[in-house]
Amino acid sequence: MPKFSERFTSLPPYALADVPKIKAKLIEQGVDVIDLGAGDADQMPPPQAIGAIQKVVTEERFSRYPFQRGLPEFRIKISEWMKLRFGVEFDPFEELLPLIGTKEGVAHLPLCFLDPGDGAIVPNPGYYPYFGGTHMLGADVIEVPLRRETGFLLDWSQVPKKKLSRAKLLYLNYPNNPTGAVASEGYFQEALEFCRQHDLLLIHDNAYSEIAYDGYRPPSILQFEGAREVAVEFQSLSKTYNMTGWRIGWVAGHKDVIAALTKVKVYYDTGVFLACQAAGVAALDTWSEFAPKNAAIFQERRDAAVDAFREAGFEVEKPRATLYLWIPIPSGEPSIDFARRILREAGVVLFPGVGMGTGGEGYFRVALTVPAERLSEAAQRVAKVL
Ligand SMILES: Cc1ncc(COP(=O)(O)O)c(C=O)c1O
Repeated sequence: MPKFSERFTSLPPYALADVPKIKAKLIEQGVDVIDLGAGDADQMPPPQAIGAIQKVVTEERFSRYPFQRGLPEFRIKISEWMKLRFGVEFDPFEELLPLIGTKEGVAHLPLCFLDPGDGAIVPNPGYYPYFGGTHMLGADVIEVPLRRETGFLLDWSQVPKKKLSRAKLLYLNYPNNPTGAVASEGYFQEALEFCRQHDLLLIHDNAYSEIAYDGYRPPSILQFEGAREVAVEFQSLSKTYNMTGWRIGWVAGHKDVIAALTKVKVYYDTGVFLACQAAGVAALDTWSEFAPKNAAIFQERRDAAVDAFREAGFEVEKPRATLYLWIPIPSGEPSIDFARRILREAGVVLFPGVGMGTGGEGYFRVALTVPAERLSEAAQRVAKVL
């Protein structure tokens, strides 16, 4: 076998790689494992989405290649939803593109812009496809730490001038995974201005825009004047509608960027399963009713988990959005060691902060993906071990 590429071998390992094995072993031994690792909720998608896929999956035309154009009705529905939710209009066929989940899109977009030696500014900690999509091109991953003191907002003034001159992309993600941080409208406007000044494309990942609490409504970067000239935004059905496994999302923005990503994707995939796109139409139709109810479930869990982890002795901030608590490890133990110890001794899967980048060291992440009482029990078990 030939040698693996340098780019491949230098990819950091997935932080939860050995968790399924340890978890399976514990379950075999009769341990009642509580999994708070991945942001993969235990709730069902809207029944309308399930009904829609059941209906069309028996039709021959839905078994065909979707190609990048996909189901016109899905594009039109996305366009209507963007107008309804954020007050901005997008041409369904020129300024939107369905994706096999946001992850696929954010990882492939650098293919349109980066040559070896170019750079992308990415948050650290941050969602790892931003890193991977850039790194695998031999481009420079310009990591900027997200610090608690600055509300976990990426501070672009930290980028060294020399690196900035080769940078073409800036990734932002608010509401933020893993920190749970949210950004103000002013912050977004400053980010747009910075990108204008330095000829950067702002890539905003808004996967958690509908998982927000206490009446907070996260904005879209595209709702600000002139944003379309400098920014694109990714959206996902995964979190809003509990459809993580269905692999469906989209990107909205300038027609040239959409055309470029469409061209790249022709070489990598053949589109989102048409039956999933039909389900996407049905899901988006339920938004005004389903999304607030779904967010209310996670809000109740957030409250229970914050209380329980505080009671267990942790310093926990209450996030205004996302499915996560981002908690400092009091012992100063490396996050991987801490997570492994908690799994083995308490039967609780926690996500080690370093799994989201070196800037996540010293933290662990709790996903609100189990009922409130299980979250409380998890916190109690962790407290016992410590
Ligand atoms: C910031 C962020 N973007 C995107 C995604 C995934 O979206 P999708 O399931 O549409 O690929 C996640 C999932 O955890 C995420 O945390």
